[in-house]
Amino acid sequence: MRIDFANLQRQYQAYKEEIDQAIQKVLDHGKYIMGPEVAELERGLEVFTGARQAITCSSGTDALLLAMMALNIGPGDEVITTPFTFIATAEAIALLGAKPVFVDIDQTTCNIDVSKIEAAITESTRVIMPVSLYGQPADLDKIGCTARRYGLKVIVDGAQSFGAAYRKKAEVHFCDLYTTSFFPAKPLGCYGDGGAVLTNDEVLAEKIRMLRVHGQSQRYHHKYIGLGARLDTIQAAILGVKLKYYPDDLSKRQNVARIYTKLLKTNNLKLKTPFVKEDRTSVWAQYSIRIKNRDMLQKKLKEKGIPTAIHYPAPLHLQECFSYLGYERGDFPAAEAVSSEILSLPMNPYVTEEESLMIVQTIKDMGIESK
Ligand SMILES: Cc1ncc(COP(=O)(O)O)c(C=O)c1O
Repeated sequence: MRIDFANLQRQYQAYKEEIDQAIQKVLDHGKYIMGPEVAELERGLEVFTGARQAITCSSGTDALLLAMMALNIGPGDEVITTPFTFIATAEAIALLGAKPVFVDIDQTTCNIDVSKIEAAITESTRVIMPVSLYGQPADLDKIGCTARRYGLKVIVDGAQSFGAAYRKKAEVHFCDLYTTSFFPAKPLGCYGDGGAVLTNDEVLAEKIRMLRVHGQSQRYHHKYIGLGARLDTIQAAILGVKLKYYPDDLSKRQNVARIYTKLLKTNNLKLKTPFVKEDRTSVWAQYSIRIKNRDMLQKKLKEKGIPTAIHYPAPLHLQECFSYLGYERGDFPAAEAVSSEILSLPMNPYVTEEESLMIVQTIKDMGIESK
């Protein structure tokens, strides 16, 4: 049995006819940049989330840049975020000349620990940027309250969480700007790079629409210094097809996660399964377990042909590129502990019950039962 981690080929096969047709349509009409499929996708994303405005762009990283550029974030500003995320979150802050300020995570969800945010706020803080890690929103109500009290903006890095619900609504309704990624392996992925910024703020949306095309208000008239950060029409066409089937993909992902959790729990294994808070859903960008002898388990699974991944082996405050920030080992004990124990199992809509059983059996065979 060969198990695939993200199984992108299988998903393409499932929608092949429609995707091929959508791509061919773009090749035929020739509007490869900002073709009609881009606006159609943006309307689709708005309907899906209830957001007033969706602005697609070239990646999740550029979505973060655009969101912060719309708020004029730059040198002298501080942005509070988590050290336990993909590099892009803090990299985008630093690229704009602002300072990433890390706050440790809550070990139960791996998301930013809201009880620690207030202590990190200074005169220079402008934005709180939670990340919806593995597909689960952070404590957005509490983050919103803190932000309002100090006059800060909230940008949610939802690169992993498009389609997740917080108190039954999309995350965009609990922040100023929500960014996401359509990187192929994301729950809603295209076949190249892609991303979007979603917001209910029409003024910010208008600015972001200009920023993504070199800050231009009309052709060759540039109001802002911006980026070349558009989503290609072909990627928009692919996403347009995939968005139609996304609710079904999401329920399949939920089901895979449910089966993993059930099997891992009933087998009484010495590991922690993911915890999703009651008032929100995860889109299961990853199904990540915590286990003490992680590296050994990863090796064993690999020998059996089971691919896994580590999201993430080193928290950002310990990355060489951020050494100038002056953080040290021990500064964020929760992020450090989780990074040494976390392991993501194969997750995609097509993981079968048989495959889950085989994966769990392999873990069990390693002798990590608690009794
Ligand atoms: C949390 C987080 N932020 C930002 C990004 C960047 O997205 P992209 O790869 O589309 O630039 C990613 C993607 O891996 C991510 O997981």
